[in-house]
Amino acid sequence: MRQATVFRTVNHEPFSPRESENLSYERDNIRRMTGYTAGEQPADAATLKLNTNENPYPPSPRVQSRLNDLSVDSLRTYPHPTADPLRDLLGEVHEVLRENIVVTHGGDEALRLAVTTYVEPGTAFGMADPSYSLYPVLAEIQDARLVRVPLDDSWDLPRNFADELNEAGANLACIVNPHAPSGSLMDTDRISQLAQSFNGVLLIDEAYVDFVDPGLRHDAVRLIKAFDNLLILRTFSKGYSLAGLRLGYLIGAAPLIEPLVQKTRDSFNIDTISQALGEAAIIDRAYAEKIWANVRAARRLLRDDLLGLGFAVKSSQSNFLLAEVPLSSPMTAEQIYLALKTAGILVRYFDTPLLDDKLRITVGTEDQNRQLVAALRTILAS
Ligand SMILES: Cc1ncc(COP(=O)(O)O)c(C=O)c1O
Repeated sequence: MRQATVFRTVNHEPFSPRESENLSYERDNIRRMTGYTAGEQPADAATLKLNTNENPYPPSPRVQSRLNDLSVDSLRTYPHPTADPLRDLLGEVHEVLRENIVVTHGGDEALRLAVTTYVEPGTAFGMADPSYSLYPVLAEIQDARLVRVPLDDSWDLPRNFADELNEAGANLACIVNPHAPSGSLMDTDRISQLAQSFNGVLLIDEAYVDFVDPGLRHDAVRLIKAFDNLLILRTFSKGYSLAGLRLGYLIGAAPLIEPLVQKTRDSFNIDTISQALGEAAIIDRAYAEKIWANVRAARRLLRDDLLGLGFAVKSSQSNFLLAEVPLSSPMTAEQIYLALKTAGILVRYFDTPLLDDKLRITVGTEDQNRQLVAALRTILAS
C-alpha cells in the first residue's frame, strides 16, 4: 500500500512518496489521456480562418448594444443561478417549457454534463465514427469505454447502430446531426427510430442545425415530447456568431434535464454577460435567420467552385464543406492544406483514415470564399 503523503516542510526530505517513486497524483485514466486539441489559431489577424466553423458574419447589432449597456456594477452580484430568463426565451422559440432546457457554458459543457450524469465509469459510451473529436476525450475523463460505430461509405449510420450499442450496454450515445465533418443530415424519422430502439440516452448534437435548408422542415426538437431518452444539443457559437461567448443548451424531457440543472451543473455556470447577450441574440432571431440564409447561399457557390476545381464535394447542410482531393491530383490533401496555410488561409486537415484525403472548409463570406478559391486555383496550377 502507498503511504500517506507527507507534506513538504521547508527545505527537507523526505517529500511526497509519490514524487520519489515518480508517481502522478492524477487518476490513472487522466494520466493516460492527452486531452482535446483545439483548432489551429491564426498567426496574425490577416489570416483567413476557415478551419473551426465559426460564423463569418458579426453577431446581431442588438448583442452589441446590450454589451454597451452593461455596467461593470452588474458584475458585483452573482448571475441568475439557472439562467431562467434565457431559458424562458429559448422555451418560446422551441415551444417547450423552461423545465425542458438547461443552459450550458458552450455546447461542450452540455456534452460534459451528459457524460458525467449518464455514463457510469467503466461502462460503454457510444458514438458514430468519425465525428466530434471531443467525445473520446469526455469518455476518457469519465473512464468510460468508448464504442465507436463506423459510418457507412455515404456517411450514414449503419442499420445496427442501436443494437450494437445496446449489446455493449451503452447508457449514452452522441450523434452529430448535421454530421461533422461531412455535413450530411439524418432525417427525423431515423432519429425517432434510434430513440425508440436505443436503451440509453440518445444525444443529438445539433451544433450546426441552424444552417439546414428551411425547405427541409427539419425539426428534431418536437421529438422530445415523444421520447423521454432524447437530448438535443444547441449552441450560440455557430448560428449566432458567438463562439467567444461560450453559450449552449440542451433540450429534453423534464426528468432528463432536471439532474443536469439541479445536480451536475456548476453553480452559476452562466455568467451575467453571457446571459444578457444570449437573451439579446435570441430576441433578434430575425437577424440570425438572415445570416443563416447568407451562409447557405455562400455554401452553394463555394461548392460549385470546388467542384469546378476537381474536388469531390458532397452537398452539406452545415456551414462547412468536406472537399475530397481527387486521386488524379498531383498534390495530397495535406500538401494543399500546407500550401493554403503558407498563403495565409487556414482550413482543417485530419490525418486519420477516411479523412486524410479531404479538407474540411468552413463557409466564409462570398468574398472570403473567392479568396480561397483563387488561392486553390494557384496552388493546383503550380
Ligand atoms: C459537433 C460539435 N458539437 C459541439 C460543439 C461545441 O460547440 P461550443 O462548445 O462552441 O458550443 C462543436 C464545436 O465545434 C462541434 O463541432
